[in-house]
This record gives sequence, C-alpha cells and structure tokens, in this order.
Amino acid sequence: MDFIWRAKLARLVAACHPSEVLDLATGSGDLALAIKKACPTARITAADFCLPMLEQARIKGVERLVQADGLALPFSDGSFDVLTVAFGLRNMADWKEAILEMNRVLRPGGVVFILDFSLPEWEPLLSFYRLYLHHVLPRLAHWATQRKEAYEYLGGSIETFPGGRKMNALLEERGFSCDAPRPLTLGVVSIYQARKRG
Ligand SMILES: C[S@@+](CC[C@H](N)C(=O)[O-])C[C@H]1O[C@@H](n2cnc3c(N)ncnc32)[C@H](O)[C@@H]1O
Repeated sequence: MDFIWRAKLARLVAACHPSEVLDLATGSGDLALAIKKACPTARITAADFCLPMLEQARIKGVERLVQADGLALPFSDGSFDVLTVAFGLRNMADWKEAILEMNRVLRPGGVVFILDFSLPEWEPLLSFYRLYLHHVLPRLAHWATQRKEAYEYLGGSIETFPGGRKMNALLEERGFSCDAPRPLTLGVVSIYQARKRG
C-alpha cells in the first residue's frame, strides 16, 4: 500500500509544476523516485540525517542526496517550490520546530506535503484498527522480523502524532494555509497539503 500512497502524493506534487523539490526524511528514497517519475524536469533533492539510509537511496538511483537534520536544514530561505515528507515528521524529535524549518526553506507560495499514518475517525473501525495496531501487528512483526519493539513504537507514535484538523492547526500556526486533509485507505494514512503564506 505504501507505494500506492507515495504515487498518489507524487501526482499531487506534479500538479504544482515545481522546479525545485525537497524530499525530507527521504529514507531509502522511494518517494523521491516516485516524484522524479511524475515530474521528470524537476530538480529533486533528497535529505535524511541517517547516512546508511542515504546509501540505500543512492543504490536505488536517487541522484541528489544531502545529509541533513530536519530541525536545522542546510538550505537558504526560500530554496524550494515544494517540500515533501513521508512517514518522517512523526519520527522527528520536535514537530513544531520541523514545520518552522520547512516553512523557512520554502519560497512564499511554496507547498508542503506531509504523508503519514493517522487514525480512522469512524469509531467502530477505530476500535478494530487499534486492536490490530497494538496487539496483532507487533505479534506478526515479531514472528516475521524478530523486531517487535519497532512495531510497538509504530503504534505508540501513531497515537501521539497529531492527525486531521490538529495537524492543520499546527501548520496554520506556523505560516501555512491548509487544504482539507486527505484521508486514504479508510483514514489509516493521510496527506496534508499546505501553502506557505506571504
Ligand atoms: C520511516 S522512514 C521514511 C522514509 C521515506 N520517506 C519513505 O517514505 O519510505 C523515516 C526516515 O526519517 C528520517 N528522520 C527521522 N528524523 C529525522 C530528522 N530529524 N531529520 C532528517 N531525517 C530524519 C529517518 O532517518 C528515516 O530515514
């Protein structure tokens, strides 16, 4: 499913016709590659603070890689038309600081896209999803990967990460004008799109 979600995000990026794109917390570069496919003429910079992840991105064919911390980006103000972050903001130590830094490196009128896990709003589905997230998934993951703790972290981080209107409020308070959140796959992930004011 994550490839379908990233492809959807890449189509939204293409609709902005950007020249300069920053894919922050790029990891092994899957979103950067999807954006390159959707926007072949754009210059895409892929940034992450983890060198081994950047090495994986290089092996997959991502060209312009920068080691950078999302809380102190090594780019001038107004450098990018579009900034994307997929499954990355939730893992950052300070979401508010990271959003301010995203705002700084975007040009006025530039667009940020955040793709991340969220919780379904429909109550019966939410109860079922929580059962899956906190009890079924960690056990399955332990069986398949022997790394149960990573999936326990995943469930906990999804619970505390602001979703829907709360994420839009964080963005609005830090200089963005937001579109309505786009829940995907019954709301287990969402895409947030916001334009830098000014
Ligand atoms: C779950 S991966 C997501 C990777 C990729 N965006 C994707 O869609 O698959 C999260 C990434 O966020 C990166 N990350 C976490 N905090 C960061 C920070 N403060 N600055 C830069 N990268 C960060 C991690 O190194 C990791 O590669």
